[in-house]
Amino acid sequence: MKDPAARYSDDAAITTDLLRQLAYNEKMAELGKISAGIVHELNSPLSVIISASQMIMREEGVPDSVVEMISRISSEAQRLSHLTKGLLHFSSHDETVSDVDLNLTLDFILNFLNYEAARRGVVVSKEYDFTLPTILIDANLLKQILLNIIMNALQAMENSGGTLHVETSAAGEGCVCFHISDNGPGIPPETLERIFDRYFTTKKVGEGTGLGLFVTKSLVENMGGNINVTSSKAEGTCFCVTLPIRHGV
Ligand SMILES: Nc1ncnc2c1ncn2[C@@H]1O[C@H](COP(=O)(O)OP(=O)(O)OP(=O)(O)O)[C@@H](O)[C@H]1O
Ligand SMILES: [Mg+2]
Repeated sequence: MKDPAARYSDDAAITTDLLRQLAYNEKMAELGKISAGIVHELNSPLSVIISASQMIMREEGVPDSVVEMISRISSEAQRLSHLTKGLLHFSSHDETVSDVDLNLTLDFILNFLNYEAARRGVVVSKEYDFTLPTILIDANLLKQILLNIIMNALQAMENSGGTLHVETSAAGEGCVCFHISDNGPGIPPETLERIFDRYFTTKKVGEGTGLGLFVTKSLVENMGGNINVTSSKAEGTCFCVTLPIRHGV
């Protein structure tokens, strides 16, 4: 039997871990609220820019070069507006379980990360099974799972560029599955064993908390699903997540 002093120190360590995680969650929630406010503020001027530029383009006699410039202003403003609406949607915290389309949710996250992929020279390839049934799930949690795995893949291809491949398919009785693979540097075997551990990170201080995959695995397992990873230096890394269509119904 474990000596009481050792058990006490285990319990104290777990409590400290939980408190740190709570503090982190609180900070992120606060940040979410602040950014939702900023995004809201950005939307009004963006709408003004979009409608004003469209009015200018409808005017007669505007030189072609000006029309071209205004149309660029308009399309960039529309892109920003699309992004800010996505952010608002993403930071909303409605914990509602509903019928969710996995392919559409993947597209939503990939659009959201379009710029992050492009600036790293990453090309996205998709292979969706369009016959998949919807899954009963909290869409925000699914987005969180996808975001964590895809951001890691993009970060792995930071300097090299590469291909991010996403694939959806049916998986056995009452389950759907998605694969997210990259052709980054891969994960060495001694690291692979630890990637789901809380606070495990190979990133520089301030660049990674080491909570992403820990949270992802907990979310997937709470939903009754499972997550697997394969990785090699030659082929890169592939995460495979299986989720039940009707968990807890
Ligand atoms: N696709 C990948 N290719 C290479 N290494 C990866 C990949 N995905 C995860 N890893 C490794 O797993 C580690 C843990 O990932 P995790 O998402 O938990 O934390 P993180 O990305 O370091 O920080 P954050 O909490 O900000 O997400 C990473 O630091 C990285 O070493
Ligand atoms: Mg991460």
